[in-house]
Amino acid sequence: MLSAARPVITIDGPSGSGKGTIASRLAQRLGFTLLDSGALYRVLGLAALRAGLKPEEDQEAIAALAADLPIHFGRAVTDAPWKDDSVWLGAEEVSLAIRTDEASAWASLVAAIPAVRASLLQRQRDFLGDAGLVADGRDMGTTVFPEAPLKVFLTASVEARAERRHKQLIAKGIDAILSALLRELQERDARDTQRSASPLRAAEDAITIDSTDMSIEQVMAQIEELIAIKIGKH
Ligand code: C5P
Repeated sequence: MLSAARPVITIDGPSGSGKGTIASRLAQRLGFTLLDSGALYRVLGLAALRAGLKPEEDQEAIAALAADLPIHFGRAVTDAPWKDDSVWLGAEEVSLAIRTDEASAWASLVAAIPAVRASLLQRQRDFLGDAGLVADGRDMGTTVFPEAPLKVFLTASVEARAERRHKQLIAKGIDAILSALLRELQERDARDTQRSASPLRAAEDAITIDSTDMSIEQVMAQIEELIAIKIGKH
């Protein structure tokens, strides 16, 4: 159950809007648990891929896999909600494996299966710990935590998102082509907004922040103002 003592802050938005970074920093600052819901879909996509299951043909089997999937976040194991962002599938650390282009594409394909979303719903709600929760995803404010007192829809132009991703990859020494990144983001946006099950959209009571011309610090400052208004001191 949601309560004023255990507030939920939802941060939804398209890929590359910066919501992962913002959600993680907020959780750290507030001492809240962090739910990276995209990582759940990514781990499932990876597991389905490895099991040879096809999103178009094997929807029931993938939903069954979702129900029993042994996903863990390192922070849950270390008892430090924000210090360790590692992601585990059983005993295997899959933090890097879930970020490949192939795993990203499969994540958004398995995420479009209604039975998969239903199967992961309670699991996501169970992340609400004793202090509070910052939930990062596409449908946190619309479907998973519709009663959250603060809902943010974080967006940015697709060009700005592609440029940010390009800079990140180049900084890591990974070759990347801006036009290809732009096309990939446009494809993912289209899949995420046009699917019938929990499409990406802002909740009616969400506050939209367009970060196209904003730094991470500016976005954080704006959200902290909203927390003071909507939730009170933390
Ligand atoms: O946020 P991230 O890019 O890690 O999410 C990976 C994919 O998982 C997205 O492209 C989206 O299709 C799916 N997703 C979703 N609902 C969420 C979070 C992620 O459908 N709440």
